[in-house]
Amino acid sequence: MNNFQYKNPTKILFGKDQIENLSTEIPENAKVLMLFGGGSIKKNGVYEQVSKALAKFEVIEFGGIPANPEYEVLMEALDIIKAENITFLLAVGGGSVIDGTKFLAAAALYEGNEPWDILVKNIRTFKGMPFGTVLTLPATGSEMNSGAVITRAETKEKFAMGGPGLFPVFSILDPQVIKSIPQRQIANGLADSFTHVLEQYMTYPANAPLQDRFAESILQTIIEVAPAILKDASDYNAASNFMWSCTMALNGLIQQGVPSDWAVHAMGHELTALFGIDHARTLAIIAESHYTYNLESKKDKLAQYAERVWNVTEGTTEEKAIAGIKNTTEFFHSLGIKTTLSEYTEDYKGTAQIISKRFEERGWKGLGEHGKLTPADVEKIVEMSY
Ligand code: NZQ
Ligand code: ZN
Repeated sequence: MNNFQYKNPTKILFGKDQIENLSTEIPENAKVLMLFGGGSIKKNGVYEQVSKALAKFEVIEFGGIPANPEYEVLMEALDIIKAENITFLLAVGGGSVIDGTKFLAAAALYEGNEPWDILVKNIRTFKGMPFGTVLTLPATGSEMNSGAVITRAETKEKFAMGGPGLFPVFSILDPQVIKSIPQRQIANGLADSFTHVLEQYMTYPANAPLQDRFAESILQTIIEVAPAILKDASDYNAASNFMWSCTMALNGLIQQGVPSDWAVHAMGHELTALFGIDHARTLAIIAESHYTYNLESKKDKLAQYAERVWNVTEGTTEEKAIAGIKNTTEFFHSLGIKTTLSEYTEDYKGTAQIISKRFEERGWKGLGEHGKLTPADVEKIVEMSY
């Protein structure tokens, strides 16, 4: 096992009607900027619950943060934070609203001239403005981690950012919010969280059986809960297990002491930036070709995954590994998610070259758990996913 230091300061308030507790979690006398997305919270009762809980605070609202949070929109919110002397940010939404809020928490205290540099120069944030979240869509784990991904539509770019100053102070997880989520977004949440676990697990054996079993148990729970939550989003038991699995998939716990990959996400972000494909679906497009292309270096873990998660008992290590990949693709299909790029766009030819050129221009060091994947490898993997 590798050395590690682990600190996750986010307080979780999980369960029915926890939104009421907002009033005691936000510091007294705070001037709050409440951030939300395109309006789902106004249709499902979340807005009313939050407004009621915030009654004793001075609150300014900023709605309209789009899916794949957009830099230009966030810069409008940054002006409000400065002009109104906001002291606390409250994100009410899914990963996009929470990530947008993290960008604002960083940008509000950033001393440079151009907040875009935080993204493009990958500047880590050690101190951000304090913020809390009310999660409305389980998927990203953003409610309990310190990362964010921000898009700039103008240049078709999507960059990650983060740092220890960007953990939420608290996050409220009420599984009852899931009942209004459209099927497509529930499927996205299942596929995204599943892939988060794979990115931190599908590497090479690192003598970390506890981390392996944490990861496998999250995968098994997501597989078990998927049909129930897709059938009935108001099934509270399914909703609560789905929600907590998504948080646990990316709150830092399972990656301690083990190598991680994240190449599927790196390539997937480019597909969102270029074609606007939902984040989770880009991962389903890349996963099979990435694992197939890297079969040799990943086959031990792929075989272990096939055995323990999919109960594959027959065959050599390599045959089991291939069965693990096949089961993964079938799982995405069972969620109604298509797994090749040409099923999402007719304009797919040349994508592999565009992405590998972008990586080269950005001076990317190698991708993957060994840091050895070159832009040329990326080109082949993306091509295999057409
Ligand atoms: O905008 P509104 O109207 O609120 O509608 C949203 C949005 O259209 C809707 N929605 C959310 N909660 C709902 C609901 N509709 C009905 N009922 C509810 N309770 O769902 C749509 C998608 O929301 P979004 O926040 O975009 O989805 P998700 O949570 O999947 O977030 C995706 C973003 O997170 C980034 C992705 O790249 C993408 O930009 N990620 C963030 C990560 C992180 N911070 O750790 C890791 C991930 O790998 C990912 O990259
Ligand atoms: Zn993801």
